[in-house]
Amino acid sequence: MSAPSVPLPGGTWTLGDLTVTRFGYGAMQLAGPNVMGPPADHDGALAVLREAAELGITHIDTAGAYGPRVTNRLIREALHPYPDALHIVTKVGAVRDEQGGWPPARRPEELRRAVHENLQDLGLDALDVVNLRIGDAQGPQSGSLAEPFEALVELQRQGLIRHLGVSNATAEQVAEARTIAPIVCVQNMYNLAHRQDDELIDELAREGIAYVPFFPLGGFTPLQSSALSAVASRLNATPMSVALAWLLRRSPNILLIPGTSSVAHLRENAAGAGLPLSAEDLAELDGIGR
Ligand SMILES: NC(=O)c1ccc[n+]([C@@H]2O[C@H](COP(=O)([O-])OP(=O)(O)OC[C@H]3O[C@@H](n4cnc5c(N)ncnc54)[C@H](OP(=O)(O)O)[C@@H]3O)[C@@H](O)[C@H]2O)c1
Repeated sequence: MSAPSVPLPGGTWTLGDLTVTRFGYGAMQLAGPNVMGPPADHDGALAVLREAAELGITHIDTAGAYGPRVTNRLIREALHPYPDALHIVTKVGAVRDEQGGWPPARRPEELRRAVHENLQDLGLDALDVVNLRIGDAQGPQSGSLAEPFEALVELQRQGLIRHLGVSNATAEQVAEARTIAPIVCVQNMYNLAHRQDDELIDELAREGIAYVPFFPLGGFTPLQSSALSAVASRLNATPMSVALAWLLRRSPNILLIPGTSSVAHLRENAAGAGLPLSAEDLAELDGIGR
């Protein structure tokens, strides 16, 4: 990994003892349609991952369920042996069925299997960060996470996991996890138009815990808002750039993992997230999801 010619916007954050760039990359879009099977353009997918490293990105988000086992193997093929600075964050707690659904797999033996598959597919002896994904496709669902989270804590004790996080979780579940073991991040759905975690973000910021929004650009349904388009056209920028720049300004503990299968979009996003926003722009954007 050569030194990037332009620093990434947002600087760095520390996940436990791991320093990562706040501008990261989410690998989900590299699998085939509906996040199933291999990519249509295998070499193109490898090129995106290598470009992420070239840009200086040191935080890649993935999961064994992507493909399944497709994005992890692409990451290994593109970037192994990994540069010391690069940190891969994965998640466990769901698998895939033949219809492309995401059924839960949170029994201790299922989590153990998932951790071992991630290690094997990524070519690692220990995983930097593992998020326990709970809830379902509709979003977070209430209920105790103690049993699955304790199973991951046991794998951490065995040295297979460095740091833990939770994903798709309610504020109560985040609090419950923290009574069991320290967490370094929470990965939930959040973007300009979906602001239900505003309070949680501020609380985690006070505690030094990262908040990693998934679907920062709207996910499978791109963000659309007339206020967003108005700010973007005034700044001569794309709505995607404005949405990412707003997230970086929203709170210092927010880490970005926008997904893309395109080298051009990756470069555009890395540059766009650094777009300067005035107090007036921020106030207008703030009104979108409130
Ligand atoms: N914890 C969870 O339950 C969970 C759930 C979902 C996702 N995630 C993680 O979050 C990451 C981000 O989520 P995501 O990828 O689903 O959604 P996203 O980042 O909100 O949006 C990705 C979509 O935006 C498009 N896009 C990206 N940059 C663009 C640009 N500059 N111009 C136009 N279109 C652009 C991509 O298409 P192109 O490929 O054409 O660029 C893709 O369709 C994932 O990669 C995954 O790692 C986690």
